[in-house]
Amino acid sequence: MTGKAKKRIALLPGDGIGPEVLDQAVKVLQAIGDRFEHEWEFIPGLIGHVAIQQTGEALPSQTLETCQKADAILFGATGSPAYDFQVEAKPRPEDGILQLRKALGLYANIRPVRLFGELHYLSPLKEALLDGVDLLLVRELTGGLYFGNRGRKEEGNRAFDTGVYSLGEVERIARLAFEYAMQRRRHLTLVDKSNVLETSRLWRRIVLEMQADFPEVEVDYLYADRMAMELLLKPSAFDVVLTSNLVGDILSEEAAVLTGSLGLLPSASMGGAKALFEPVHGTWPEAAGKDIANPMAAIGSAALLLEYLGLPLEAAAVRQAVSEVLQKGIGTPDMRARIPASCSQMGDMVAHMVMDEAAVSLRSGAIEDRVSPIIYAFYCSNYGDLGW
Ligand code: IPM
Ligand code: MN
Repeated sequence: MTGKAKKRIALLPGDGIGPEVLDQAVKVLQAIGDRFEHEWEFIPGLIGHVAIQQTGEALPSQTLETCQKADAILFGATGSPAYDFQVEAKPRPEDGILQLRKALGLYANIRPVRLFGELHYLSPLKEALLDGVDLLLVRELTGGLYFGNRGRKEEGNRAFDTGVYSLGEVERIARLAFEYAMQRRRHLTLVDKSNVLETSRLWRRIVLEMQADFPEVEVDYLYADRMAMELLLKPSAFDVVLTSNLVGDILSEEAAVLTGSLGLLPSASMGGAKALFEPVHGTWPEAAGKDIANPMAAIGSAALLLEYLGLPLEAAAVRQAVSEVLQKGIGTPDMRARIPASCSQMGDMVAHMVMDEAAVSLRSGAIEDRVSPIIYAFYCSNYGDLGW
């Protein structure tokens, strides 16, 4: 190891498949550490249903402290079917991540939606629609309906949720979205319901005014219901998509359909002194502990974490390794891959590819098409010697 500072990473696996997908992200980060000589310290923390079971709280104060002391946070998923019909239960597992976002000031949720070329077959959309799909969803994360006053009146028979946004809250996320647009294809779409909602009319006014500061950015305004349709009709028309909290939550799962599996989408939540990285997918309780979940979203989130830590080469190495594994036709069951693999096998292969890339680039200075020994062994054990 060199004298580089050790990076502290808070690990919050949470519930369902959270732990098993994060294990794979950790494997890959460890391989990156070995290859690029970085030292990580992983500090575990409880959150969600497991935290409620052990401490009574969805976000124990110790977990928050761990996050505050860390350089970055890797989060899995929270939720439990035990709460599906326990509508009055408090706290709920999801409260953990919501409280954490608020406490750390993570007002910006960035969800890149890119298609892996080799996985076009996975999408239910026609291939012709998928060419050039590369969008960045910028979702406001600490305001709106998620965080306004809510409650019950009339002996529990009348319920209310309030959606509030202030000028400052909208300005900071809108500016970020414009800045992303400047670094990308200079196109921004604000998605709102300004035909109905007052908060949306504030968003629209602020974005209209901000356009003057970014004259090179072309801005479109779409109602959320219309966007739900456009996203499937012409997904490649979008570059940066800016939304409020609730609209962004809904559209991000719709956008996942474009890639073919929710198990592929990573995300970054930023804004405060710390940043948190998490797969867009949830807990998938039916799959928990079965080693069948797709770890690519978690591994992709680790790549975003590396970028955030100022390590773009390392992030690129992760993406390269992922793409090499996918190119071989290997994938978890949700990917309907030619060569099925388990969650942990995928993690092993990506981690191994990270190391193998290093070996190959040392030998030849280039990464050419080849088969990593671990992938070779995997093929052979499943399909016999393929004679490579
Ligand atoms: C997400 C999730 C969360 C959200 C839940 C678990 C509270 O669906 O990150 O998209 O609604 O923000
Ligand atoms: Mn969601």
